[in-house]
Amino acid sequence: MKKHIEEESQERLNTEMLAAISKLTRAGFLLLVVLILLFWQNYSWLMGSKGDQAQVVQAQLPILSPTAQKGKDLFKNNCAACHNRDMQSNLTGPALGGVQERWAAYPRSDLYQWIRNSQALIEAGHPRAQELWKKWKPVIMTPSSSLKDADIDAILTYVEEQYAAR
Ligand code: HEC
Repeated sequence: MKKHIEEESQERLNTEMLAAISKLTRAGFLLLVVLILLFWQNYSWLMGSKGDQAQVVQAQLPILSPTAQKGKDLFKNNCAACHNRDMQSNLTGPALGGVQERWAAYPRSDLYQWIRNSQALIEAGHPRAQELWKKWKPVIMTPSSSLKDADIDAILTYVEEQYAAR
């Protein structure tokens, strides 16, 4: 009889312990799930925001070659007052995108000369220069006589890369 009671209380203890363990396990499991969720959310938030920023920067600034980067500074200082930076819409002067093709029928030195002193080339009777003047006069393009060939090459590289990235 005594044994029976002992067994019974032992059994009850066992059941209670099992219930407690299972509660603890469930709590532990829930905690783990919450932790994983928090970690995942933080992680994807970090990754996500970095990704978005990179995309925004890329949309605003095309990645330029080093030559184009140099050309960009020269363009800003010498040309941007009249030529649109998007290279595809007119401003005080015409859009410059694709300009090398429009001068492809002439020696490249003609384009250098035009950029250094457009009025001289117009007076010399150059066909492309006169065509431009007919359309855009009386607006005179500021001479940039101090620009070297390499400077102009850099500007034109910038023009084309900027135009291609539009
Ligand atoms: C004061 C305004 C002004 C500035 C500054 C200026 N331009 Fe111009 N540009 C013009 C105008 C206006 C024309 C159209 C022709 C004309 O009226 O002489 C033109 C025409 C051109 C053309 C011919 C475009 C074509 O389709 O053939 C090129 C190339 C050019 N500019 C390059 C430049 C570069 C490079 C610079 C900077 C170094 C520059 N321009 C600075 C006003 C300007």
